[in-house]
Amino acid sequence: MLEELLQLQEIAVEEILATNQLKALEDLRVKYLGRKSRLRNIMSSLGGLPTDQRPKIGQAAGEAQKAIQTAIASQMSLIRETEESSSYIDVTLPGRVPDLGAPHPLIRLSYELTDIFRGMGFELFEGPETEDEYHNFDALNTPKDHPARDLHDTFYLEAGGLLRTHTSTVQIRLMENRQPPIRMISLGRCYRKETVDATHHFAFHQMEGLFVDHNVSFADLKGTIEAMGRQLLGPKTQVRFRSHFFPFTEPSVEYDFSCSLCHGASKECRICKGTGWIEIAGAGMVDPAVFESVGYDPENYTGFAFGMGLERIAMIRYGIDDVRLFLENDLRFIRQFSNLR
Ligand code: DAH
Repeated sequence: MLEELLQLQEIAVEEILATNQLKALEDLRVKYLGRKSRLRNIMSSLGGLPTDQRPKIGQAAGEAQKAIQTAIASQMSLIRETEESSSYIDVTLPGRVPDLGAPHPLIRLSYELTDIFRGMGFELFEGPETEDEYHNFDALNTPKDHPARDLHDTFYLEAGGLLRTHTSTVQIRLMENRQPPIRMISLGRCYRKETVDATHHFAFHQMEGLFVDHNVSFADLKGTIEAMGRQLLGPKTQVRFRSHFFPFTEPSVEYDFSCSLCHGASKECRICKGTGWIEIAGAGMVDPAVFESVGYDPENYTGFAFGMGLERIAMIRYGIDDVRLFLENDLRFIRQFSNLR
């Protein structure tokens, strides 16, 4: 009987540990520990055994019972655990979204402007950020002693050259290498000697435009700027030209867009300061002296040009109140633009 008990225990434990369902485990419990089980049967017949056998058999039966109970308990918790962990897999949950980058607001605005001008037949060109004085000033009709240079103080490099103060340099670089007709835009970083605060930075971004052909008129300039304004800030946007001076255009203007926030209706508007207008950029008809410096015949060609800062427009557009944020590389700032169209 001792032998039988040992065997019974071994088989029972083996069977229990091979089970992976609670129902089957319960059946095994009944089979091996239930009222009609062989183990119970042996236990209840202990009293009828010879006294010298009783303690041994009794002890073996107790041990078998304990071993079977332990096996059932541990197998039960194993089955439960597996069931629980598999119930964590909720196939209706969305997948893990890969960590995609988001375009910087200035890049986003650049894409938008490029789209607008491509739609009007303009090509996109790039120019270097480190320039020489000739392309930044002289070729743009701004000789060394010209007072207009005072507004464009910049960083001069030890090896010679400077950091460009505007994207107008790209006009020269393109015209030196191409004959009209020209319809180009260029976007990029510019530098000036500025003390940094919420509205000024020594590094900023501009977009330049240039259109050269036979009989290009001031009306073409106005129409192009208007088309840009309407696509950028809405179809009701109006353009206002104010006369101004730039060395490289004649006549020159500064232009404003009507306020996209209050449409001139609010005296306290934070964007237009109650004027109804937002100063956007400079523009004009290309000065004949500029054509001469690139070898174009000013009697044969006319053209218009414009240059505008991107930060101001991005600030209006996205409600940004500090120009320094653009260049701080703070992910908390950039991430706010990841869901914008
Ligand atoms: N380059 C000028 C600036 O940075 C802006 C500008 C004005 C560009 C008139 C032009 C223009 O092309 O025609 O202040």
